[in-house]
Amino acid sequence: MSIHTPKIEKKITLSALQAMKGKEPIVMVTAYDALFAKLFDGEVEMILVGDSLNMSFLGKPDTLSATLDQMIYHTQAVCHGAQKSIVVFDMPFGTYTTPEIAVANATKVYQQTDAQAVKIEGGKERAPVIKALVENGIAVVAHVGLMPQFVRSEGGYKVRGKDTEDIQSMVEDAKVLEEAGAFMILVEGVKSEAAKAITETVSVPTIGIGAGNTTDGQVLVWSDMFDFFEAFTPKFVKKYGKGATMIKEGLQQYRDEVKSREFPSEEYSY
Ligand code: KIV
Repeated sequence: MSIHTPKIEKKITLSALQAMKGKEPIVMVTAYDALFAKLFDGEVEMILVGDSLNMSFLGKPDTLSATLDQMIYHTQAVCHGAQKSIVVFDMPFGTYTTPEIAVANATKVYQQTDAQAVKIEGGKERAPVIKALVENGIAVVAHVGLMPQFVRSEGGYKVRGKDTEDIQSMVEDAKVLEEAGAFMILVEGVKSEAAKAITETVSVPTIGIGAGNTTDGQVLVWSDMFDFFEAFTPKFVKKYGKGATMIKEGLQQYRDEVKSREFPSEEYSY
């Protein structure tokens, strides 16, 4: 049974999010423009401008060709729509390869958008990057488990945490990334027991996607959850609407009415 939870009335803070760990699940969705950010604002604690937009909105086969400037452009739009939810900027592939490069690029993000944090993919090898970002006033969400920016080097999207060794290595990664200063850890595409072990180990909140129901919050890509993205559906995506069907049916009706001159009737004419 689902309960209707109250809407968020004022701007969320990072410390309020951290205080939710173990008390109330954190809700996050992606958004790529002001229109949808406005619809989601206040309904969810966090909005992620994910580089998934490269696939769902730009039609590319993976996220790797998203650029910093494209992401900045979309994040500016999202920030115009989001007044209450925290906006997180997904650092695209190749923009945080060293601490210096990461700080320069994330500084540009903070200067040109109102995002309150950046997200970066990677295990403990990213600790120096996270440390440098945090020391320079940039809040970081670390992203572990299945990391879409590694799809070409890994040869596909592979669920992680299938054996104790892999679970241990991800727990170790999460610990090191928390120590480096990440205020939150996003865990993608892992067996539920791996997400549980990570969540129980770190003191910062974890957000899961395809990671079962024990993380401190959940994130979904909005075009997946509302069934606009039809190319494929990962197992973890629950559909909360029939977006593509709604658009196709509406468009068919509009087309029929224009062709038959039923639209625009008197009601829609000056
Ligand atoms: O790019 C994105 O939307 C993401 C989510 C899948 C977490 O990173």
